[in-house]
Amino acid sequence: MEESKNVLPITQGVVPTGKLKEMRKRALEDPEGFWSEIANELYWKKGWEKVIDGEAPYFKWFVGGKTNLSYNALDRHVKSWRKNKAAIIWEGEPGDVRVLTYYQLWKEVNKFANVLKDLGVKKGDRVTIYMPMVPEAVVAMLATVRIGAIHSVVFSGFSAKGLAERINDAQAKVVITADGMWRRGKKLNLKDIVDKALQETPSVESVVVYNRLGLEVNMEEGRDYKWDDLMEGAKTYAEPEWVESEHPSFILYTSGTTGKPKGIIHDTGGYMVGVYATMKWVFDIRDDDIHWCTADIGWITGHSYVVYGPLLHGATTLMYEGAPDYPKPDRWWSIVEKYGVTTLYTAPTAIRMFMRYGEKWVEKHDLSSLRLLGSVGEPINPEAWWWYYKYIGKEKCPIVDTWWQTETGHIMISPVPGIELVPLKPGSATYPLPGIDAEVVDENGNPVPPNTRGYLVIRRPWPGMLHGIWGDPERYVRTYWSKFPGMYFTGDYAMKDNDGYFWILGRADDVIKVAGHRLGTLELESAFVAHPAVSEAAVVAKPHPVKGEAIVAFVTLKEGYQPSDELREELRKWIRDTIGPVATPEEIHFVSKLPKTRSGKIMRRVLRAVITGQQLGDLSTLEDEASVEEVKRAVEQLR
Ligand code: PRX
Repeated sequence: MEESKNVLPITQGVVPTGKLKEMRKRALEDPEGFWSEIANELYWKKGWEKVIDGEAPYFKWFVGGKTNLSYNALDRHVKSWRKNKAAIIWEGEPGDVRVLTYYQLWKEVNKFANVLKDLGVKKGDRVTIYMPMVPEAVVAMLATVRIGAIHSVVFSGFSAKGLAERINDAQAKVVITADGMWRRGKKLNLKDIVDKALQETPSVESVVVYNRLGLEVNMEEGRDYKWDDLMEGAKTYAEPEWVESEHPSFILYTSGTTGKPKGIIHDTGGYMVGVYATMKWVFDIRDDDIHWCTADIGWITGHSYVVYGPLLHGATTLMYEGAPDYPKPDRWWSIVEKYGVTTLYTAPTAIRMFMRYGEKWVEKHDLSSLRLLGSVGEPINPEAWWWYYKYIGKEKCPIVDTWWQTETGHIMISPVPGIELVPLKPGSATYPLPGIDAEVVDENGNPVPPNTRGYLVIRRPWPGMLHGIWGDPERYVRTYWSKFPGMYFTGDYAMKDNDGYFWILGRADDVIKVAGHRLGTLELESAFVAHPAVSEAAVVAKPHPVKGEAIVAFVTLKEGYQPSDELREELRKWIRDTIGPVATPEEIHFVSKLPKTRSGKIMRRVLRAVITGQQLGDLSTLEDEASVEEVKRAVEQLR
């Protein structure tokens, strides 16, 4: 790695203040003092007795403390000069605009909290939110935590089956949805998907349907209610439920190495403090900012940096409902110009897409309001980094490449302009944040020398850390805390360079990232095998110029089925319907046999090597060499 060449020119002349180093040192020496100072900037109904308690894999944060997330995100500001400040600026896909002040949002949340109570939702109950990117989705989230219930937001791109699976796992009592949503100018009926899912979800007692499109939807008497009808009669104030710091605030499902998605549990106090601190350090959030995080609220990035992070700071968060390039490839840049967006946080896959459309779409707009750019979700390749820096940031905005996960709750490794901006190197997330003890280790858990690939681990507890997998404590321990006892295993490969900068090198497990979306290979393979024609399936990722990674499947068929283009198309649709459009395979290859070891394990490594044209490596454990030849022929044929 040619480090010096890659150092960003604007920060080359920056004189180091040493503040970051000092803060990192202090946070590790006195974590309790360090985190309590930050926690004290927020409101606690009852103070904590202990900042961190327990030992791996079970930690508790701010033990004994009582607080409420919605109080901190809203009431605190409503009582201040921020009362009439914009909390949410929202633009719909057709161009309709809404602005909700802190006071207005607070009122909506209070009323909806009462609606939920009237539906019988109590502290600890689960509420599934399956909604488009509309302000009511945020209202639903905040109202849920206001009454001490637990939200589980399911990305609106998931299929009925995916939704049902998540509702059942959480045993949700209420589902909040909308009649429909815009998707590239077309109206998509969401309620139909919900109805389909609800055929197999006995725990659901009520459904609240927000009217986004005015569609005529099926309403089941005694189960389905219109949002507006319920809000009309709702009382205007709901006293926040003061919950214990470790009380779960939400569950968020993500993919792992097994077939079933895992419900990651986040607490209240620790999560709140972690998100609050990182919003300040990484985005250097200010009162006159218009912060735009482009993630959907169905992902952790949306939870932490569309909703909770900005609102905890009393900042203005921008939400956009539609597709990034609809109706034209300059939609995003027109939004930046129109509202004067100051901090833009997005994923490399979007940047690569805009790069392909070309600079002419960017140059139509005045982007001078931008002061900071962010990237998240997958490694950013230097070409995309430089393009983002040059054409979007006009060579004046630092880029914060932020590494973190659904499980970590908030940003863990990133430049921190809010503390001290260090020279940036395109493709490196720089250093762990203060208080984050990240390390790169070998198979035995020992730190590796500089410039050597190893596993990324976190050696100490951090505030926003996950607190288990919903309903599966054993999987929690096995997945995260067993590979290296006492350390949290991230599942990522990483490397540190001579300056101690971290470079994230991709997943070390069977998780793939398609356009920043996290998918498990086993989840995909199970979906293939559920089709009547499929006998076995192996899924691997191949590099993709825009999406980062794309899905390639190798499939063997059952007796009586023949490979054909129609079947290939049918399988593609099957996967879309089973998981969702994000999981649509790029290539499907039919083979008579998959390459396996003599003990019957599918050799995905060999499949990966074939599709990327790399050396096949050691084949001594392979059961049948002919299977590899067949895979090679299948790949050649289709390309
Ligand atoms: O592999 C890492 C990659 O995304 C994974 C986490 O995915 P998810 O839980 O969906 O959360 C994404 C948004 C926080 C990580 O294990 N990843 C995330 N950020 C980066 C990244 N890889 C490289 N660089 C990043 N900045």
